[in-house]
Amino acid sequence: MFGRRTAPVEAPAAPKSSAVAKKPAPAAAKKPAPKPAQKPARSEAKSSQPPAPPRVATPSAKKPEAVEIGGRSDEYFQTKTTIFNALIDTIDLSQLAQLDTEAAAEEIRDIVNEIISIKNVQMSIAEQESLLQDICNDVLGYGPLEPLLARDDIADIMVNGSSRVFIEVGGKIQLTNVRFRDNSQLMNICQRIVSQVGRRVDEASPICDARLPDGSRVNVIAPPLSIDGAALTIRKFKKDKLRIQDLVNFGSITPEGAKVLEIVGHCRINTLISGGTGSGKTTLLNCLTGFIEHDERVVTCEDAAELQLQQPHVVRLETRPPNLEGQGEVTMRDLVKNCLRMRPERIIVGEVRGPEAFDLLQAMNTGHDGSMGTLHANSPREALQRIESMITMGGYNLPSKTIKEMIVGSIDVIVQAARLRDGSRRITHITEVLGTEGDTIITQDLFIYDMDGEDADGKIVGKHKSTGIARPAFWDRARYYGKEAELAAALDAASE
Ligand SMILES: Nc1ncnc2c1ncn2[C@@H]1O[C@H](COP(=O)(O)OP(=O)(O)OP(=O)(O)O)[C@@H](O)[C@H]1O
Ligand SMILES: [Mg+2]
Repeated sequence: MFGRRTAPVEAPAAPKSSAVAKKPAPAAAKKPAPKPAQKPARSEAKSSQPPAPPRVATPSAKKPEAVEIGGRSDEYFQTKTTIFNALIDTIDLSQLAQLDTEAAAEEIRDIVNEIISIKNVQMSIAEQESLLQDICNDVLGYGPLEPLLARDDIADIMVNGSSRVFIEVGGKIQLTNVRFRDNSQLMNICQRIVSQVGRRVDEASPICDARLPDGSRVNVIAPPLSIDGAALTIRKFKKDKLRIQDLVNFGSITPEGAKVLEIVGHCRINTLISGGTGSGKTTLLNCLTGFIEHDERVVTCEDAAELQLQQPHVVRLETRPPNLEGQGEVTMRDLVKNCLRMRPERIIVGEVRGPEAFDLLQAMNTGHDGSMGTLHANSPREALQRIESMITMGGYNLPSKTIKEMIVGSIDVIVQAARLRDGSRRITHITEVLGTEGDTIITQDLFIYDMDGEDADGKIVGKHKSTGIARPAFWDRARYYGKEAELAAALDAASE
């Protein structure tokens, strides 16, 4: 079968080798090129630095200006579409799929060069090279997403249908000039991504989580659920994970606050990391795991493995969604329960969002000290409420007072992360859970971030403050690990 341009054109390349049969001659494809979206007005803020803010557009304002990626012009997109269509009319995609990626890329290059010369397209060597690269990406890779995936400064890629691609750089969300030919190209690329992990996304099963080979976390929600074409969200996997020192350098926390976190991580204090979406919870959890001793046996449970523990004795577990027949699901709760039979010293749960909260708390107060997890909440107090409601909704028929006592007996410290409106991430609270008084859980803040306002550039101004607590409740524990002098020094320095 020869792929026609009206049909889905991309075929994933599979390893094997044979030559690609060509049609007799590259047919000049004459269909009108899909109308390219409007040209982005100017290139700006390419660097990873938070851009000097184009002040946030009001809803009534015009379209936000798109950040140019790769500096492609409208003419370029038109030429590419013409050549791409001619290529698709020329090659046998099923045979191309037999080749390994390199051989397939070589084959595509040969044919594209031939088409360029037959059609007498005028381009510079550099343009020709980037065209070849783009076409190879379309046929073999992730198409227009490739240049975004290649950039390490991008935290998230958000595709809202074929012509709106947003990125998050330096905490700020920006529209780009990247676009897909049409919604079917976007769907093909989504399909290609999820099929690599043995999943499928289509009208019948329109929601899918997957992972790119580099570890990036992917979510796809396809039409008809997503109305304007597939919505694809990618949390880019950072090769160089941020370390606690990076967080200090960014001003997310003070050196004293970082020291307290180090002690919390080291002294096996049960910790919850709370925060909103993209506030840096997983990053913070990863930093905290850096303080775990190398001789401890750690089991991690995640929906998509993001943590990168440096210790030698780590077992990494990942949940599994149900297959197409709705079977074979392994939930977070299954994993956490199983963990307990694996003789872990610490259990780390990537994200607590359901009934596994109960099992994690049980683990925390049955000798797995130093267990940790993250959850979505906007304040330490809300985090406690969420844990309680997760347990209640998990069907445990326990009185509220018992659940609260269980929470208090398990969780020692809550670290709150936040993404502020200027895009910066801050650790806003280090809070201890002390006990219950009647029906209320008593907490005590050790560190807080106090916001003063905004400077002329729209940057949030504020400072981290110690609340003056000289002896936190985990003092004895710090002493047990020989860290009380360091803890006292950090708290002293912070309260000055
Ligand atoms: N303190 C920080 N300063 C700057 N960037 C940060 C900071 N913490 C995290 N980031 C970046 O923010 C992005 C999101 O971080 P992370 O994955 O840790 O968030 P999250 O809260 O776990 O998100 P989600 O709710 O989607 O799981 C990542 O690209 C990460 O590198
Ligand atoms: Mg996370």
